[in-house]
Amino acid sequence: MASLILILAAITLLVISNFAVAVAAATTGKLSFSVNYIHRDSPQSPFYNSSQTPYESLIASVDRDRFRFSKLSNGLSNIIMAPIAPDTAEYLINIAIGTPPFNIHIIADTGSGLIWTQCVPCKNCFRQTAPKFDPSASSTYKTISCKDCPSLESFFCGSHDKCSYSYIYVDGSFGNGIGSIETLTFDSSSGEKVSVENINMGCTHESKGLFQSTEAGIIGLGRGSLSLISQLGDRIDNQFSYCLVPKTAVGYSSTLNFGPGPYPNLEPFPVSIPLADVNSPFYSVFLQSVMVGDVIVPMEGSNDGSEGNIVIDSGAYLSYLPHTVLNGLIDAFSKVITLPTAQDSLFKLCYKIDRVSIDVLPDVKMDFGNGVVVTFPPLNMFFKVSNAIACLAVLPSSPGMNFIGNFAQQNFLLEYDLGINMVSFTAKDCTKFVG
Ligand SMILES: *[C@@H]1O[C@H](CO)[C@@H](O)[C@H](O)[C@H]1NC(C)=O
Repeated sequence: MASLILILAAITLLVISNFAVAVAAATTGKLSFSVNYIHRDSPQSPFYNSSQTPYESLIASVDRDRFRFSKLSNGLSNIIMAPIAPDTAEYLINIAIGTPPFNIHIIADTGSGLIWTQCVPCKNCFRQTAPKFDPSASSTYKTISCKDCPSLESFFCGSHDKCSYSYIYVDGSFGNGIGSIETLTFDSSSGEKVSVENINMGCTHESKGLFQSTEAGIIGLGRGSLSLISQLGDRIDNQFSYCLVPKTAVGYSSTLNFGPGPYPNLEPFPVSIPLADVNSPFYSVFLQSVMVGDVIVPMEGSNDGSEGNIVIDSGAYLSYLPHTVLNGLIDAFSKVITLPTAQDSLFKLCYKIDRVSIDVLPDVKMDFGNGVVVTFPPLNMFFKVSNAIACLAVLPSSPGMNFIGNFAQQNFLLEYDLGINMVSFTAKDCTKFVG
């Protein structure tokens, strides 16, 4: 992870220094609004498949996780712009692009740093059944000229003085298009439309890859300088947050909030963790140990806390810890739990819970150093593979690829403050949380 982070740091510094020109100054006025953060398997999602069982949905999510991480560990060359194949993320938002507003469903991913959509004409593009954005029909669409083009390996000066990009994923997926400036309009939860002008985004005219046909593109919520969060910057006080409802809470939507949000007097008091590797595009933090009962399992890759060893990721589903740490965790459970165990083909530790509630299982605590501890209740750590069996929803990670996925994040308000580089956890019933 250390070398990965160093590479990222170097690239990101480059990006930041070169982007000052290209990122158009935001118009004035502070913004604070919430949108529905739609899980791809929920009925509000265009990907919803009503015949899929919860277990099938789990397996699909785990497959996407594997694909997501394999892209990361195999190739880092385009990691700032497109670190993760877009179709591996779990949450979408509705936005409108341009003037008049053109509505699309778009993946919104904390693991990505670029905004792009497929545009007309799209000659050799992945199949998109949803209509594509037509820049010639938008009065606010502007291309970026070569002199303002980001000096990044994916970007180059194309024909007709247009800033162009071509990024390639290791699996052979790619997107080629035009660097553009557009107005984005968000459907806020309060019913108000929130428009932001001068957002840098990619207009893809040629693409290939394993995408869903209803997918229209991606909005990066990562730390890279071209992500939506970085571009909104001061207008949202460099803050965003989300509150994820459990997948089982059908009929409720998760919320994604931009700006500090109206959350006075949060109870319980938020647990704030410093973001490590400030120049990483990911929300990486330093995890010191994991605890069950009195047993403390030290995290691998422990250091003085300046380097991250785990990424908080809304796009990953499960959590991923090193083999040794996961085995330590399993030993720790066996010391405090006397329930009969069960076998599962995917998970390493399962209990028979046909006679008890899942709540009898102990909390898992994560110690982020300096007394900063987040307590994950059993519902965040155990997946019910059936009514009778619950399994520890943590899988062994590939080296350096440790993640806290969205299953563990459910029913927490996660607040990211990039002004002070902190991420906070506050336990919340997200079905009751109004952003
Ligand atoms: C929906 O889920 C069912 C059950 O897993 C599956 O057989 C079917 O192929 C899925 N449909 C689509 C369009 O993915």
